[in-house]
Amino acid sequence: MTDAGRAAGTTAPALKRLHVITWGCQMNVYDSGRMADVLAPLGYAPVSEPEGADMVILNTCHIRDKAAEKVFSELGRLRKMRDAQDNRMILAVAGCVAQAEGKEILARAPYVDIVLGPQTYHRLPEMVARAARAGGAVIETDFPAEDKFDHLPEAAAPQGVTAFLTIQEGCDKFCSFCVVPYTRGAEQSRSAATVIAEARRMVAQGTAEISLLGQNVNAWRGTAPDGSTWGLARLLRELAAIPGLKRLRYTTSHPRDMDDDLIAAHGDLPALMPFLHLPVQSGSDRILAAMNRKHTADDYRAIVRRLREARPDLALSSDFIVGHPGETEADFEATMQLIRDVTFPMAYSFKYSPRPGTPAAGAPMQVPDDVAHRRLLTLQALLREQQDRFNANCVGLTIPVLFTNPGRDPGQIGGRTPWLQAVHVTGPQSLIGTEQPVLIEAAMTNSLAGRLLDHPSQERRSA
Ligand code: 5AD
Ligand code: SF4
Repeated sequence: MTDAGRAAGTTAPALKRLHVITWGCQMNVYDSGRMADVLAPLGYAPVSEPEGADMVILNTCHIRDKAAEKVFSELGRLRKMRDAQDNRMILAVAGCVAQAEGKEILARAPYVDIVLGPQTYHRLPEMVARAARAGGAVIETDFPAEDKFDHLPEAAAPQGVTAFLTIQEGCDKFCSFCVVPYTRGAEQSRSAATVIAEARRMVAQGTAEISLLGQNVNAWRGTAPDGSTWGLARLLRELAAIPGLKRLRYTTSHPRDMDDDLIAAHGDLPALMPFLHLPVQSGSDRILAAMNRKHTADDYRAIVRRLREARPDLALSSDFIVGHPGETEADFEATMQLIRDVTFPMAYSFKYSPRPGTPAAGAPMQVPDDVAHRRLLTLQALLREQQDRFNANCVGLTIPVLFTNPGRDPGQIGGRTPWLQAVHVTGPQSLIGTEQPVLIEAAMTNSLAGRLLDHPSQERRSA
């Protein structure tokens, strides 16, 4: 090899600006990070604005409402920006709208260069090369035979004090209302060895809290280093033993996959935080059956009871849908009763939104919009009351807070309780990354304020 050749081989590619717009769930946030990672060797570095970018990726969400319309309006805006700038901007649409409506995107927005579904992100560098060469657009929305998890690089940069780690993707449950089984494909799990190795690396780089991610994370079944198959509980036990890892969480779970070992793990593992997002969707057995959830409201109550026996301070969060086809006033009241029985200090609630291609979209007895809207407001008022009460009950308690970021006001730092409430205190930045006991002094709806206990110098002088 000549000197010139050797030099060319080792010279870093010219810096290109990459802007990623992320809509939707934590899985998309994680995927956006991985897309940036696969593009890094091509010289792409993330920038916070689309103006002047060499490539913009729109990572889309298809779960509710006017998903496609929102995509087309954003693409129109980006196209104008691209037309106004000197350098060429590669425009890519990723995520679940790309998967579900890829062909329609290219028909209606032929100026888009790349359309890629969530299973194909590892092929992005090759698609970028093809888009640079080709006159036309590149589209990849098949579910490839190779496992995306085996081909994506690990997270390049340190992930921060709290970080997500995707261990499972896809869904085999086919709830009547949901597009995820169609857009994300069948359930797939990453092997235990790769998850453990990545978790260790994250902790070595300063991560103190890991949230395991998956569309059906508690359906995770991984090949263990000894060739046997582990469930999520076994994986959690292994991860909890990593020195320096203070907190573990997992989301999102399905009630059907809460097995005995997983429930027991909540009692056995102090690092597993006492807060679980376990969507129930409805409290009516009739609607749960129509939703194809394959469990009853009492099954859910029983799981919660057993979880609380294992971990008495466990708090629950859930997703609720009101106005699913066929939902009567009595069905809605059953959901309200379930909320009163279980209590949810945090929850997400949605008005049912018909998704093309899902069974519920064609079902008879669609609920009128004004009825669904009224039910949503009633349900949200109850959830808000429960959240306020939960937060108010924290006042006067000393709670361990993991500090993650500087606060809004100078001299403040912010963090999270085990129950994911945001907390602000006056304190030094040096505590970011550590867990400290905090005396909670005030509760707002979305956050708590408190005082550091172990740092007398931080105590208010007026106290
Ligand atoms: N309409 C309303 N909400 C939905 N969700 C999923 N699909 C729909 C839909 N078609 C909600 C569910 C799910 C959460 C991620 O989004 O509650 O748990
Ligand atoms: Fe959608 Fe149901 Fe699968 Fe959750 S379990 S992703 S709601 S189909």
